[in-house]
Amino acid sequence: MTVRALVTGGAGFIGSHLADALVARGDDVVILDSLAPDAHADAPDYAVRSRRFFHGDVRDPATLRAALTGGVDVVFHEAALVGLGRGDADRSRFLDVNVEGTRQVLRALAPLRPRPRVVLASSMALYGEGAYRCESCSASREGIRTKAQLESGDWDPRCPACGSPLRPQAVPESHAWRPGTAYAHSKADQEREAFVLASSLGIPLVALRYHNVYGPRMPRNTPYAGVASLLKSRILSGRPPVVHEDGRQLRDFIHVKDVVAANLLAAEAPEEAVRGQPFNVGSGKPVTILDLANVLVQEIAPDQTPELRGSYRPGDARHVFGSIEKIQQALGFQPRIGFQDGFRSFAHDPMRTAVEGLPLP
Ligand SMILES: NC(=O)c1ccc[n+]([C@@H]2O[C@H](COP(=O)([O-])OP(=O)(O)OC[C@H]3O[C@@H](n4cnc5c(N)ncnc54)[C@H](O)[C@@H]3O)[C@@H](O)[C@H]2O)c1
Ligand SMILES: [Zn+2]
Repeated sequence: MTVRALVTGGAGFIGSHLADALVARGDDVVILDSLAPDAHADAPDYAVRSRRFFHGDVRDPATLRAALTGGVDVVFHEAALVGLGRGDADRSRFLDVNVEGTRQVLRALAPLRPRPRVVLASSMALYGEGAYRCESCSASREGIRTKAQLESGDWDPRCPACGSPLRPQAVPESHAWRPGTAYAHSKADQEREAFVLASSLGIPLVALRYHNVYGPRMPRNTPYAGVASLLKSRILSGRPPVVHEDGRQLRDFIHVKDVVAANLLAAEAPEEAVRGQPFNVGSGKPVTILDLANVLVQEIAPDQTPELRGSYRPGDARHVFGSIEKIQQALGFQPRIGFQDGFRSFAHDPMRTAVEGLPLP
């Protein structure tokens, strides 16, 4: 049976791969995307070719009604304003697109029968810091780093009771939320609001908390470009990539094709397995930022070496990587693209350049 799917943000990095996968298996795909100038230089041909493409804003009920004509079985809500954002003005922009936009999408779905399932693109950004344990005290601890500690180059968070460096743990879905940027706050509010509104409207909704996604078409000069694309852009410009702290920060990088697979599983699983549930989507295999910089350097410019200046960015998490046990058990998710293979290809993958993006390094 052909599935009718709406992909909001379907011209973007993750949404376009998702739309490609749906089209490839013969589904009837509608894309709704505003082609936000901070995300795009122009309409990417992979988004507008041979599909039903609606150029519009998820906050606009008339556009949503048009895109939903004929009904849909599933909505993949990928559209979002992405980036960091720290000031108050940023905060209202992020809330408007990410929270109000999501509310509009859910409201537009409420009259449809049967009610479509919504797979929401959430983010590990809502956790802020990762999870830690103190081995000496045999206790879970919050990972807090003081400014004085960072200034002295003492990178790992320490146990408040005994002072030992804490050991990082995989973050479960139940981990506390400590979003640190305007973007992260908006993703936290988006997920919370989406579950509340979907439940009151009777819409089955599942939230996928993506970790650091990478792959072809990743933006190279948007504020959200992410560490992988910032390092790559710098190497391509002939300069060594700068790695903050001691480079041993752990992160979870997941290939966009694996993220697509998680979305398809979330869309197809029996409703009782996913309704009202958040799932981490990661590779389950954390790597250090220095490992990442090394793979990219070896692949693009082997004569370079990553530069460790002992610099840091206030508010950065030290270690954050997800436990993927829940999605493995509930949905049978298995990431397929490993770190080495994935990043060797990523070094040569085409990337997207945004017209109102940041200056390239
Ligand atoms: N890339 C990552 O590592 C990552 C990690 C965690 C979560 N996410 C989430 O995944 C989703 C997709 O992110 P991405 O990396 O593909 O970003 P992206 O910027 O490449 O794609 C987002 C798309 O949404 C569109 N858009 C923005 N505002 C819109 C609006 N008001 N109406 C309609 N379309 C709008 C943009 O034009 C863009 O095409 C987002 O919800 C993001 O928060 C991404
Ligand atoms: Zn302790």
